[in-house]
Amino acid sequence: MTSAEEENVSSGSFLEDAARAARWIESYRNGVGDLPVLPRVRPGDVSGGLGTVPPEAPASLAAVLADLDEIIVPGLTHWNHPGFFAYFCSSTTDAGVLAEFLAAELNQNAMLWRTSPAGTELERRMVEWVRRFVELPDSFSGLILDTASTSSFTALLAARERAVPGVRARGLSGRGDLGPCTLYVSEEAHSSLDKAAAAAGLGLDQVRKVPVDSRLRMIPDALDEAITVDRRNGLTPVMVCATIGTTSTTSVDPVREVADICDRLGVWLHVDAAYAGPAAALAEKSQEFEGWERADSIVLNPHKWMSVPIDCSVLLYRDEEAMRQPLSLTPEYLSSEEDGRDLMDIGLSLGRRFRALKLWFQFRMEGTEAIRARLRSHIQLADRLADWIEEDGRFELAAPHPFSLVVFRALPPSGADPDDWNRRLLTAVNRRGPVFLSHTTVGGRYVIRLAVGSARGTEQAVREAWRLLGEEYDRMEKGVT
Ligand SMILES: Cc1ncc(COP(=O)(O)O)c(C=O)c1O
Repeated sequence: MTSAEEENVSSGSFLEDAARAARWIESYRNGVGDLPVLPRVRPGDVSGGLGTVPPEAPASLAAVLADLDEIIVPGLTHWNHPGFFAYFCSSTTDAGVLAEFLAAELNQNAMLWRTSPAGTELERRMVEWVRRFVELPDSFSGLILDTASTSSFTALLAARERAVPGVRARGLSGRGDLGPCTLYVSEEAHSSLDKAAAAAGLGLDQVRKVPVDSRLRMIPDALDEAITVDRRNGLTPVMVCATIGTTSTTSVDPVREVADICDRLGVWLHVDAAYAGPAAALAEKSQEFEGWERADSIVLNPHKWMSVPIDCSVLLYRDEEAMRQPLSLTPEYLSSEEDGRDLMDIGLSLGRRFRALKLWFQFRMEGTEAIRARLRSHIQLADRLADWIEEDGRFELAAPHPFSLVVFRALPPSGADPDDWNRRLLTAVNRRGPVFLSHTTVGGRYVIRLAVGSARGTEQAVREAWRLLGEEYDRMEKGVT
């Protein structure tokens, strides 16, 4: 075929457009490291560049991609940037990107087994692969949801049903036979648990924030006491959530002791390992996960530290029937003769994305050895950064760093307010462009967080972040703004 004929055949064709999109991705990928991680736009800049009404006429992909470059990319915070160290990193690999592309074409909706036998069975098998990867026993099964927030909420509904049989039919309101239902988390737990309590009708006031020790771990005696007192006062303890890898500092609750209490007092134990969960695949980290196999449910997010594209959250549980109890409902129009294991029976959503495909691609195209090696390299980088911090008189660590997050603060020159100094330092560093770090508070004091976790090569970027922190500190000290 001549090139003119080729042009004719493929002009505007799916193949040509797909190749164009792939070239766009390649070029974005090669250039993203040179862009500022945080966009330099003001509110309204992006929407101002977009028409207010949908176009009547079609446009070529080339024209849409040109607008992507001009209007959208300048307004992106680049989560796939090697210098993205804020929150918990969510990055991607080829496997995940390609799987998302194919999943869109396959467009599976595995609400019932028959609406996608492969989608249903692949999801079950991928949960099993994740379970084996993190070395949990085969008493766990599970499913894939969008986020840890949804996973924890789904677990809470099952725990609520177990604690208050029949709540699905009778609800919680106006019941003289029932005291308030309570949820127990540590002071360091993620806010998604508060949201879950609000959404499940427990109410934010019934979330007990159990105090933590000097290592920011839930104090088991305080948990025991809180549940016992609540029971004595006629309240109904529904669930305890222990966290392995809290958001602020990656502290680890003493899950084994918490599990003892939950067993003795008969309360559902949920473990939030949304970020740290994949590290259970590393033998040297197994002590951080002691006792988690005794949980009733566990959440871990491959879209955080396993570099699977967002969204992908795995909810594991030991009692599938208990998970079905709260919400399984089959109207006539969804009934079917096949005896499948319908994914719609657990959780709120009926339709679901083909998320299992990207996990399958990730495991197939990378293999568990490479995934483990990446986790280890992130932990090593975090350890190195922690060493630099400890050796530098201008900074100090603010918390232990069991995984790949380092939490630290700058020590300001005498007379300066430490919180204000750290806030200004972080703003100055983030304004530079090559890196993006976030903050939290530890013991009420403002601290800086640097979470290593990108699949996009971070060693140089960690060095750059450290260099910029020192440089901006010195500029502030000299009064240069
Ligand atoms: C420990 C922990 N739990 C839950 C969440 C919520 O995750 P998602 O955004 O998947 O709902 C986060 C988010 O960072 C987290 O760190």
